[in-house]
Amino acid sequence: MHISNIMEVSSLNKTLILLVLVLATFTTMAQGQGSRGRGQGTRVGFYRATCPRVESIVQSAVESAVQANRTIAPGLLRMFFHDCFVNGCDASVLIEGPSTEKASGPNSLLTGFEVIDAAKAQLESACPGVVSCADIVALAARDSVVLTGGRRWQVPLGRRDGLVSQASDTANLPGATDPITVQIRKFADKGLNTQDLVTLVGGHTIGTAACLLFSYRLYNFNNTNGPDPDINQAFLPQLRALCPNGGNAFRRVAMDTGSVNSFGNSFYENLRNGRGVIESDAKLWSDRRTQRYVQGFLGVRGQPGSRFNAEFGRAMVKMGNIHVKTGRQGQIRRVCTATN
Ligand SMILES: *[C@@H]1O[C@H](CO)[C@@H](O)[C@H](O)[C@H]1NC(C)=O
Ligand SMILES: *[C@@H]1O[C@H](CO)[C@@H](O)[C@H](O)[C@H]1NC(C)=O
Repeated sequence: MHISNIMEVSSLNKTLILLVLVLATFTTMAQGQGSRGRGQGTRVGFYRATCPRVESIVQSAVESAVQANRTIAPGLLRMFFHDCFVNGCDASVLIEGPSTEKASGPNSLLTGFEVIDAAKAQLESACPGVVSCADIVALAARDSVVLTGGRRWQVPLGRRDGLVSQASDTANLPGATDPITVQIRKFADKGLNTQDLVTLVGGHTIGTAACLLFSYRLYNFNNTNGPDPDINQAFLPQLRALCPNGGNAFRRVAMDTGSVNSFGNSFYENLRNGRGVIESDAKLWSDRRTQRYVQGFLGVRGQPGSRFNAEFGRAMVKMGNIHVKTGRQGQIRRVCTATN
């Protein structure tokens, strides 16, 4: 029992980081947008002449994967976040090796890599050496949102693949226990403001969290020997049933209770109702600085969730430009798991 508790805590730290990462992946798009790329930023239609089928090829790879297994959709969305937040959106998260980002604790639960590889293989046969892995990841994230009911947005393309991937660089990813002040700062470090933070965390509408990431909130929060008072009293027994004390730490629980398969603003309704699952999400409602944005995403009669769905695409474009490499920077990988 002691050993399993210890393991749980250690995994907890990792997983916390992971989840938060997802949220956090939004970084400095401003820097990517042209200012560093010798005048070349990303743009919609970048492959129009060189690989006109790029979007349909990625889309069909994502579609068939998500049809076979819905959990692929949040997995691909999370992958993009984790890529962008560390060294910018440059597919550094895909590189394999003993001490790469992919091998780090925060990325240990990422899924969907096979979908990126499948799309890349088809693209290499359709237009060899043209489409970056970083752009495939960006498109796959968008397609995952659309497939689960979110609104489509246009993805600026032209990212180049990075040459560096180090596990240690994942250390500053946002974490599931980060106070709001820390969350705001980590996003600001990437050029993303508080509204972007609240918007991008909304990607949790289709995500799940392992029990080990939040079960401390259910039984012994902050050494009180009781639950986190922010958890709704009616919701608490549901969460406890899903994650019994000492139960399976890796069981996954929907972060948007009742609507995990549908991309939308119900996630924010849950936050308002004390039904946030991970602590960093729940705090978005309990802290005034972020609550106003949560409030702004709550349903308006007649137009439930439309504002969030529109804003999400905007924030994704912003995040997708964090420290991007363009022009002559980086390379176009032949396979996504290794540099050329
Ligand atoms: C769906 O994918 C997830 C993540 O890759 C995996 O853990 C799970 O076993 C898959 N489910 C099925 C039914 O294949
Ligand atoms: C945890 O407990 C300490 C000491 O009682 C208290 O100062 C702090 O505000 C608590 N933190 C939370 C998040 O409740």
